[in-house]
Amino acid sequence: MIEWNGEHSVGISVIDEKHKEFIDIINKVIVAKQHDNNPEKIEEVLREIIDYAWNHFRDEESYMVEFCYPEYQYHKEEHLDFVHRANSYFKIVTSGNYQILNEILEYLKRWLVNHIQGTDQKYVECFRKNGLK
Ligand SMILES: [Fe+2]
Repeated sequence: MIEWNGEHSVGISVIDEKHKEFIDIINKVIVAKQHDNNPEKIEEVLREIIDYAWNHFRDEESYMVEFCYPEYQYHKEEHLDFVHRANSYFKIVTSGNYQILNEILEYLKRWLVNHIQGTDQKYVECFRKNGLK
């Protein structure tokens, strides 16, 4: 299981709370994997991933627009890539291939490192300057 720690933090509480939810989702995938790939659980967690992505990315992006964040386009593309990927995983799973769970898990873990600990960190200065805490 993955535990939230300081390395995951962007230092802005409204965003950190959402990123904690992302870690909860990764942990649900880990549990689903341990419980012998129960199809309903896997579909449920994928729905949750897609739902989460839509909501959280929309929130981040609306801050970016509001604060005229210069790297908005690039950041948005990474989000879009995640959404596409999550949708295609969902299709694969609903077509009956549950072996994809390992790949999904690896992808989510990479997202945590590359996006949450990487790309997201870049907007922190801009968001803080605009009063987000
Ligand atoms: Fe982001």
